[in-house]
Amino acid sequence: MCGIVGYVGEKRATPLLLDGLRRLEYRGYDSAGVATLDQDRVQVVRRVGFVQNLAAAIPADMPGHTGIGHTRWATHGGVTEQNAHPHADSTNRIALAHNGIIENHAVLRARLEDDGIVFRSETDTEVLVHLVSKFYTGDPVDAVRKALLLVQGTYGIAVIFAAHPGLIVAARNGSPLVVGKGDGESFLASDPHALAAYTRQVVYLEDRDIARIDQEGWTLSRLDGSDVSRVVEVLGEEWADDGRGDYSHHMLKEIREQPESLARCLRGRVVPESGGARLGGLDMDPREIAHIQRVGVLGCGTSFHASLVGAAAMESLARIPAFAEISSEFRYRNPVIGRDDMFFAVSQSGETADTLGAVREVQVKGGRIFGVVNVVGSSIARTCGKGVYVHSGPEIAVASTKAFTSQVAALLVAALSFARTRTLGPHEGKAFGDELLAVPSAVGEWLESEPPSVMDAVELVTKGRFVFFLGRGVSHAVALEGALKLKEIAYVPCMAYPAAEMKHGPIALIDHNTPVVVIVPDDVMRDKTLSTIAEVKARGARVVVVHSAGDMHAARVADISIPVPRASTLLSPLLTALPLQLLAYRSGLALGRDIDRPRNLAKSVTVE
Ligand code: G6P
Repeated sequence: MCGIVGYVGEKRATPLLLDGLRRLEYRGYDSAGVATLDQDRVQVVRRVGFVQNLAAAIPADMPGHTGIGHTRWATHGGVTEQNAHPHADSTNRIALAHNGIIENHAVLRARLEDDGIVFRSETDTEVLVHLVSKFYTGDPVDAVRKALLLVQGTYGIAVIFAAHPGLIVAARNGSPLVVGKGDGESFLASDPHALAAYTRQVVYLEDRDIARIDQEGWTLSRLDGSDVSRVVEVLGEEWADDGRGDYSHHMLKEIREQPESLARCLRGRVVPESGGARLGGLDMDPREIAHIQRVGVLGCGTSFHASLVGAAAMESLARIPAFAEISSEFRYRNPVIGRDDMFFAVSQSGETADTLGAVREVQVKGGRIFGVVNVVGSSIARTCGKGVYVHSGPEIAVASTKAFTSQVAALLVAALSFARTRTLGPHEGKAFGDELLAVPSAVGEWLESEPPSVMDAVELVTKGRFVFFLGRGVSHAVALEGALKLKEIAYVPCMAYPAAEMKHGPIALIDHNTPVVVIVPDDVMRDKTLSTIAEVKARGARVVVVHSAGDMHAARVADISIPVPRASTLLSPLLTALPLQLLAYRSGLALGRDIDRPRNLAKSVTVE
């Protein structure tokens, strides 16, 4: 989604801004722009399309040692150069870039138009720059503060003023911003990826913070005018590693990294000696665990699919009533939240607006919520205060892969820890923990000898008009995830269904040669799912079956058989998800899609 970068220092700003914008490309965007200071005016260059289009349009000698840059993912107003950020005020002396949504923009726009302002874009953002200009009487921070006091909505903004070379004013409310300090230079970004190559010393702004940034560093104040300081944090090593290495795409690299990312997620957390698990970030003693009445697991997209597996594990392993729900639905349905309920917010980025909203809703109602997050220091991690980092390392491809398996693994560890207190003896707990610890190497072995039948499946689904994904229980969650991946990356229309529900309507869509992908590990639901396979085959479907290695019957009924290592039911998603990730990746490649930058999608969705 939208990204912001900023630079103040001695160097020419545009090369650094362009580099920062390239590092933010993975978030998804449709236009980009930069603004720098050129004597008594701001100079703005914007282009539709990729950052490379913008780079080609920027004059080699574009002046300015202070600048801001933006990648826009359109919300208000189409994908046009006029709507791209940064926006300048009518005098071209102030430029502003914005992430988020100004909800009362229509009212503010009407008032500004009454004052004679002529708007140049259809965006909600443009009101901000005109408001800052209206309130500017010499003090840039004061002007930004007065403008923001009129605004309802979410924002992360960066503003430069021709009258104040060497200065950026930044402010945050709901859209993340991080400020970094180099040697005689300072950086601003909406995502630590953009500045990790230049500095590791950073400060994360909190909601309603305003930063006055110059080359020596920053001073912070609050929207109400009071002063504040924030702890300088040091970005971890892994943040600088956002390269593709020898891989053609981030997505393939991230799929192949799963043995290591899973091992990192489990390391030190599964405790074979006691048959339990240790999650320091949850900080709960057995007495508290014994009192949990209900568990809710909340997330969006892929994280919701991991949440479904997590909720199933809480219920079947720890025997705690549990549910998973899409954050955007949960947050507005006025949910009942009991004193002894416990919630998890699952999010790779830690910035998804709907999941952050759900976290706040739980907190408003006095509930407890813990983050299951990948990005350290992200908004959800900090708002929850406590939780589990999944330690996937940077996930750059828009389609989530290694974060999904790590989220599932982290939730399984939490379920094991609760189950050891409530339902499991040491031997059963140890058996589950041992099996979990063996998963990373099973994943590695399977990835190294990827069955050739994955390519047969690619040929089938890329020729199909419409693809079904079917599974039951946790395999239904995997079916949902497989279908989401294929839509995101290959743009192949598809639908996931609980296998037995197929006969209640969707089976009408099956005709000769409809590709159906069925996830059928060798568990208690296997025979039932095999019956569904017979039903769809009887109607002409061509069936890809992802099944446990050695299950000859499942292999026989398949038109295309993809075996994965055996695992018990709750662990099976960590293995059955792998061929579906590769099916999406290889189908996207076969259809010539832009794998790491799929159309219309954003890596972290910071608006509702
Ligand atoms: C976007 C991404 C998905 C992701 C979802 C939730 O829609 O395109 O890949 O699963 O957001 O993101 P989160 O960062 O909260 O896991």
